[in-house]
Amino acid sequence: MARLSITVLIMVLFCRTALSELCNPQDKQALLQIKKELGNPTTLSSWLPNTDCCNPQWEGVSCDIDTKTYRVNSLDLTDLSLPKPYPIPSSVANLPYLSFLYISRINNLVGPISPSIAKLTKLRYLYITHTNVSGQIPHFLSQMKTLLTIDFSYNALSGTLPPSLSSLPNLLGISFDGNHISGAIPDSFGSFPKHFTVLTLSRNRLTGKIPATLAKLDLAFVDLSQNMLEGDASVLFGAKKERLQKINLAKNLLAFDLGKIRLSKSKDLGGLDLRNNRIYGNLPKVLTSFKYLKRLNVSYNNLCGEIPQGGKLQRFDESCYAHNKCLCGSPLPSCT
Ligand SMILES: *[C@@H]1O[C@H](CO)[C@@H](O)[C@H](O)[C@H]1NC(C)=O
Ligand SMILES: *[C@@H]1O[C@H](CO)[C@@H](O)[C@H](O)[C@H]1NC(C)=O
Repeated sequence: MARLSITVLIMVLFCRTALSELCNPQDKQALLQIKKELGNPTTLSSWLPNTDCCNPQWEGVSCDIDTKTYRVNSLDLTDLSLPKPYPIPSSVANLPYLSFLYISRINNLVGPISPSIAKLTKLRYLYITHTNVSGQIPHFLSQMKTLLTIDFSYNALSGTLPPSLSSLPNLLGISFDGNHISGAIPDSFGSFPKHFTVLTLSRNRLTGKIPATLAKLDLAFVDLSQNMLEGDASVLFGAKKERLQKINLAKNLLAFDLGKIRLSKSKDLGGLDLRNNRIYGNLPKVLTSFKYLKRLNVSYNNLCGEIPQGGKLQRFDESCYAHNKCLCGSPLPSCT
């Protein structure tokens, strides 16, 4: 009798564990393989074969609770300290329901952006930032039609920008700041989809002109600072650009007449950084109409004329206007 009840008890316990385990067995296997491919980092020590991967204890793993499929839909590998250099684990390809992949701050992550990522046909958010991943921005990204955001900031990527990225139908933004990307911004970047609003390519080795095709975009956040871009940047401005919130073009070789740019008055432009270029002309009067302007720096250019009085423009200190050709008026010395 005692023996029987123990057997029953064991069976009940077994069934309960089996039933309460939400994790899909294939997903669990893929995750355990990822852990192994990264040399079993201590941050992932909570990933244990005998526990449920949908349990919050599994660091950085989330399962799809809304649809009750409980497939792993989000993987966040951040701040892992790897014992030695490893490439991006190819087993990520075995998490077919992944919608969000975030890989960040892993010094010892090296090698190219793994082609296994192309197998993630539901991926919407792809972040690989602050790693030592190198090589080109892969062309296979343009086949991943579900992508909304691609952020590859602060890695060791080189080569040129793939023109085919603009064919992604749902793309909202790309960020490739802080790499070694060279060449020009492709003309095709003017045909990003309608809701595309973030273009940040700062701290690279981009050369040539900003393509005139970008006039078609209505961007909210633009950062092309610290490159070697030259010529006209007025295509980034325009009366019809309703979304513009922040634009940083600092430290390039840009030369154009700032007095001739148009800006939509109604919107909440919060930042305009044009320092260290060869921009000429006057500061446009429309700058006085931005109530939320928090950052402005036009120093080290060839600007001239009186700083328009009003709005927030006198709140910025002299260093934001200094080292121009003949800019004058508060906060700089008066014009006469
Ligand atoms: C990349 O690797 C170099 C050594 O090769 C190391 O000094 C650096 O900290 C690493 N940094 C990042 C963010 O990857
Ligand atoms: C504006 O830019 C110049 C040149 O880079 C810099 O020296 C100055 O500190 C900046 N001003 C502010 C307030 O950031």
